[in-house]
Formats: sequence, C-alpha cells, structure tokens
Amino acid sequence: MESGVYGKYAAYLPQVMDLLANDVKTYNEQYRARYGESAYEHFLYRVKSEDSMAEKCSRKGLSVTPESALGRIHDAIGLRIVCNFVDDVYGIVDYLRALSHVEVVEEKDYIRAVKPNGYRSYHMILRVRTPFEAAPGNPEGCYYAEVQLRTIAMDSWAALEHQVKYKKTLSGVDLALITAELKRCADELASCDLSMQTIRNLIREKSEETT
Ligand code: GTP
Ligand code: MG
Repeated sequence: MESGVYGKYAAYLPQVMDLLANDVKTYNEQYRARYGESAYEHFLYRVKSEDSMAEKCSRKGLSVTPESALGRIHDAIGLRIVCNFVDDVYGIVDYLRALSHVEVVEEKDYIRAVKPNGYRSYHMILRVRTPFEAAPGNPEGCYYAEVQLRTIAMDSWAALEHQVKYKKTLSGVDLALITAELKRCADELASCDLSMQTIRNLIREKSEETT
C-alpha cells in the first residue's frame, strides 16, 4: 500500500519516532537515577495521519507527495513532553540539542517570547539521522520531527485555548471576554510555575546539603 501521502516511507516513521522517544526516555532514566523523580509528568508522541498530512500539504499549497510531507513540512512526527517544572523543559531541550544524531533546524521559545494570546511552550524542529532511506530531497537518512515541551500548567491552558479556538458552537458567548480571561490565566499560571520552580530549588538545595 503506497497510496498515502507518505508513500513507502510511512513504514519508517514509527521507527524514527521510537528512536527519538527512546532518547527522551534514556534522559529520563538518567534524571531519575540522579533526582529520584521523573523529568516529565507525561510524554506523548504520534505520527500525523496521512489524511491530516495530505490536508496540510494542500492547505499550504504544496504537492501531496512524500517530498512535501517529509521535506517541506516537519511535523509528520510529533513529540510532546509535559514537565512539572520549567527547568526540566530546558534540561530536556539541552539534552536533545547535544545528541550527535540530531540537528536542531528551528527553535521557538514561546516560554520567554510568549505569544500575544498567552501561549507558552518550547518548540523544536529536529533533523534526525537514521538508518532508514530518506524521502526524496532530504539529506541521506534524515527525517524531521517536531518537539513541543511545556509544563503541566501550560499544557492545560493550551488544551482549553484550543477548544475555544476550534469550537464552532460558541455563538452567543463573549469571545473578547474569553480571550482576555485566557490571557490572564496564562499569566497567572506562569507566575505559579515560577513559584513552584523556586520551591523545588529550595527543596533540592536542602536535600543536597543533607546527602
Ligand atoms: P505549522 O507548522 O503550520 O503548524 O505552524 P507554525 O510552524 O507556524 O507553528 P508553531 O511552531 O507556532 O506551532 C505549531 C504547533 O504548536 C501547533 O500545531 C499547535 O499544536 C501548537 N500551538 C502553536 N500556537 C498555539 C496557540 O496559540 N494555542 C495552542 N493551543 N496551540 C498552539
Ligand atoms: Mg511548525
């Protein structure tokens, strides 16, 4: 079956995703060994369905081909890592950046450069060197993946904001009010994330003194 937008490369995508996911899990094991807790609260990954990818190619005026889906668009593979604390987000970012088979081709720090609506997350587009045949036009063995890293607070905010953005049944509600309230919540959550981080730092300093 080679009818989908990924062509014969469809078979490699879950394998490439597993390679990257295993890197993240390896980091987490090292982190656990050191701190006795996990670097993330949850970790999700998925291959974008061929239907959504075909739709995205068309929407962006690209040909519906493996070249577009795997070369021009970079989120066929998506990883989302949701952490308890902001520092853990940056710890994982540094780890991914240092991997020898990974090159960061694009980075958006929406934690420091918050989107006007209040959205916060760290986005990376990675180019991963793999043992698999690459799609035409890509460097040998290379696949792309998008990684989104955020805290639990940022994650629950993004889910709510996503609902507001895509729910078509919001007629009669005051969208301007909801937008303003969402922005306020985003900023309050960010302030809590900062306080939580400070508390954890204090706890870790104490426990390092006593061990
Ligand atoms: P595409 O590559 O076309 O998806 O867009 P882009 O490269 O301009 O996107 P960006 O890196 O800013 O965002 C990619 C993904 O992050 C989106 O598909 C969403 O999952 C998430 N995202 C970005 N901005 C927002 C936002 O304002 N609200 C929510 N809920 N999610 C967002
Ligand atoms: Mg993008």
